[in-house]
Amino acid sequence: MWNLNNKYALVTGGTKGIGKAAVLEFLELGAEVLFTSRTQKDIDLMVEELKQYDNKIHGLVADVAVTNDRQKVHNFIEKQWGKLDILVNNAGINIRKKANDYSEEEFRKVMEINLNAPFEVSRKLHSLLQKSGSAKIVNVASSAAMQDVGTGTPYAMSKAGLLQQTRSLAVEWAADGIRVNAVSPWFTVTPLTKGLLSESERMDPIIKRTPLKRVAEAREMASIIAFLAMDKSSYITGQNIVADGGMSINAI
Ligand SMILES: NC(=O)c1ccc[n+]([C@@H]2O[C@H](COP(=O)([O-])OP(=O)(O)OC[C@H]3O[C@@H](n4cnc5c(N)ncnc54)[C@H](OP(=O)(O)O)[C@@H]3O)[C@@H](O)[C@H]2O)c1
Repeated sequence: MWNLNNKYALVTGGTKGIGKAAVLEFLELGAEVLFTSRTQKDIDLMVEELKQYDNKIHGLVADVAVTNDRQKVHNFIEKQWGKLDILVNNAGINIRKKANDYSEEEFRKVMEINLNAPFEVSRKLHSLLQKSGSAKIVNVASSAAMQDVGTGTPYAMSKAGLLQQTRSLAVEWAADGIRVNAVSPWFTVTPLTKGLLSESERMDPIIKRTPLKRVAEAREMASIIAFLAMDKSSYITGQNIVADGGMSINAI
């Protein structure tokens, strides 16, 4: 069971960073994967890059925050696979500002993509997940869900909400054969954090605070996502795996 052979998986936001690493990990473990993003060019590049996986990789332009796009993803999976074994709600954004500097539109955008969309995607795909018989949803949250780490309040709020969404759906959908878990990364090398990671003034205290004395690589998040997506984690639901190099248990 340390594989994903014969499993059908969807990864939202799969062209970069943690999502892309999850797509690669899933393919290596034997799954057939559909990934999404808002950018056709990036999808084409990735399908080309992974052409050795041939008919086991599919990309679709779809914005998780757009109703018609979610329907498009549902239709693809229903027609192509007839069921869904694994859903990774990974797509996320951030706009980092002081609370008073957000426009209402900026605040709503962060909440829409990071919190509302995983709920809507999960609901839209519920019947296909139920058909799996042993489906898994993995939500990508953040250390920011549990403590202030300077990301801006809307992002932290959206990820905290995503953790409760994880727990509530885990309880409600257990009877449908669907497990729901989350992974919470600390700073991870991806395009989202590229600018930040090069600011030594900001990074030095972060590394100092982290017992493992480094930020994470995207593939280190992908392996946790894969474990939660496997039948090997069959007794875990409603949980959040914090992958933070020990940051949150370091009081000094
Ligand atoms: N990197 C970190 O340090 C870190 C730490 C904690 C949590 N996280 C979380 O991990 C997840 C992935 O982060 P990352 O660092 O890998 O981000 P990233 O490098 O910016 O990649 C984000 C991916 O999501 C896609 N995306 C963004 N908005 C989307 C939308 N509305 N619909 C569909 N796809 C969308 C992007 O493609 P397009 O822009 O082309 O759509 C891209 O493929 C996020 O939920 C983030 O909050 C990251």
